[in-house]
Amino acid sequence: MSDYKIAPSILSADFARLGEEVDAVLAAGADWVHFDVMDNHYVPNLTIGPMVCQALRKHGVEAPIDVHLMVEPVDDMIRMFADAGATYITFHPEASRHVDRSLQLIRSLGCKAGLVFNPAMGLDAAKYVMDKLDMILLMSVNPGFGGQKFIPSALDKLREARALIDASGLDIRLEIDGGVTRDNIAEIAAAGADTFVAGSAIFNADDYGEVIDAMRRNLAQ
Ligand code: DX5
Ligand code: ZN
Repeated sequence: MSDYKIAPSILSADFARLGEEVDAVLAAGADWVHFDVMDNHYVPNLTIGPMVCQALRKHGVEAPIDVHLMVEPVDDMIRMFADAGATYITFHPEASRHVDRSLQLIRSLGCKAGLVFNPAMGLDAAKYVMDKLDMILLMSVNPGFGGQKFIPSALDKLREARALIDASGLDIRLEIDGGVTRDNIAEIAAAGADTFVAGSAIFNADDYGEVIDAMRRNLAQ
């Protein structure tokens, strides 16, 4: 399969040089920019908002920006990130009182919509809204921080999500987020993921291209 996407999480980038960091990782072969939004309410950490997304677009970033909302509630942030140039907007179903409505809102604003599932969460919330999804994102760490270890039970959930997507016949990406490295990426792909978020594995390296190339080589095996 050649449609794998690598989406570096800028959570692990140097925020003092964010524009340069995003340019560097895209020049190194990344496909998307994964943009982690935390509100110190849904998760115990606080990061960046729509103004930073808009600033990256203004800086000249043309790659898809994959906005992962770890905020509660979600609808105001959906509107603001759509205005700020987001490509994908994903949210955690328990953070919206009306999941179906929030998904419709994302698409009505011209963005692609996705649901995110924490490690302990089943996929039930996806089942009846498959036709409104462009992506399912499975967390393989508890959300809030970069640099955590991949939780192995995510592999079984990936297989379950892959079966759900294939049975639907719909064009829905299956993304994994948390603890992805060059060493486990092939196993994660074999379980069904086609889109890979990686923060610390890429940004903590001296040579981003070397890591991304190694990931692609391991995916091609
Ligand atoms: C965690 C974020 C992730 C995180 C991934 O809440 O959603 O995107 O930055 O970082 P690594 O790849 O370091 O686990
Ligand atoms: Zn994320």
